[in-house]
Amino acid sequence: MSKLEWQERYSVGVDEIDADHHEMVSIINKLDDLMSCGKTRDGLPSIMGRLVDYTHGHFQREEALMAQYRYPGIDLHRQAHEEFIAKFSDIQTALLQGNYAVSITLFSLLQNWLIDHIMVADRNLGKHINHCKTASLGSPA
Ligand SMILES: [Fe+2]
Ligand SMILES: [Fe+2]
Repeated sequence: MSKLEWQERYSVGVDEIDADHHEMVSIINKLDDLMSCGKTRDGLPSIMGRLVDYTHGHFQREEALMAQYRYPGIDLHRQAHEEFIAKFSDIQTALLQGNYAVSITLFSLLQNWLIDHIMVADRNLGKHINHCKTASLGSPA
């Protein structure tokens, strides 16, 4: 599997969101190493659990920012997060059943999905947040 390299173009321009994405990519790469080295049985369930926990926290942080900044796309974005969590649960089920071939395929889909989500949905959110931050600094009328 190809490693997910963090690139500057993945930045959404909001430090706390970018920091979370960095951490998610780093956990995904650890998971990728385990899968690529055939160490699936040893460390995979625990690191997968770490990724799921971290991702839950990240989605909650993004959704709190959406509510704080009255993001108009909140419903669709939240729905995308729910779909992401559902994909995670498919991978976990495959892993628990010892179906590593399926989990590798799903995992690779997940990597692509994550980058697509960051590049479109999270970037739009980042633009909105930065727009609102700038707006609040404007001089009073
Ligand atoms: Fe995100
Ligand atoms: Fe998101």
